[in-house]
Amino acid sequence: MMVKIAASILACDLARLADEVKRVEEHIDMVHFDVMDGHFVPNISFGLPVLKALRKETSLPISVHLMITNPEDYVDRFVEEGADMVAVHYETTPHLHRIVHRIKDLGAKAFVALNPHTPVFLLSEIITDVDGVLVMSVNPGFSGQRFIARSLEKIRSLKKMIRDLGLETEIMVDGGVNEENASILIKNGATILVMGYGIFKNENYVELVRSIKQERGE
Ligand code: DX5
Ligand code: ZN
Repeated sequence: MMVKIAASILACDLARLADEVKRVEEHIDMVHFDVMDGHFVPNISFGLPVLKALRKETSLPISVHLMITNPEDYVDRFVEEGADMVAVHYETTPHLHRIVHRIKDLGAKAFVALNPHTPVFLLSEIITDVDGVLVMSVNPGFSGQRFIARSLEKIRSLKKMIRDLGLETEIMVDGGVNEENASILIKNGATILVMGYGIFKNENYVELVRSIKQERGE
């Protein structure tokens, strides 16, 4: 299966959001929309009104990554405003099962996101319920950080869990993805690569995306 590329708009010129998305649209598979509340992560980004505005500007799927406390209070509205996928952090809710099924009932794809320190084995009782897992390969909060090498091991064990169960769960890798690590990430099971700097702050992103698309997983 060909890997999918998600462009993280956190790294774009946000004053020109619609133009920035249109500029890269034909080269990517989805838009990645990072929501930060200044509580779960030490940054505040953008939220519902911006998603609503962006939804009118692109027909690409939008993956919303909720880095907020109490995500259960907001998933309905994010789906309403146009999220096709919603990723909720394992660390932010004691009711992951309920929220995952809520997202699916609303008609969106449900992803669970893991911080770098959160082990894959904690997913054993939820993995069959989710459409995908978002593996954070930097500490959430900012674009342009360095890939944490240990994440590769996590992707490997997650892939093993998914394969052993005969599932087709997506593995989305988010943070510090670049030309150096993309290939090894795909070989080890990544099915969606999120890139902020790699796309919006990279003059050669078209070439980069093209070469990444040629890589094949196992
Ligand atoms: C970090 C965000 C990422 C980030 C990726 O908290 O979840 O989506 O924007 O940006 P790069 O690819 O620049 O690390
Ligand atoms: Zn993200």
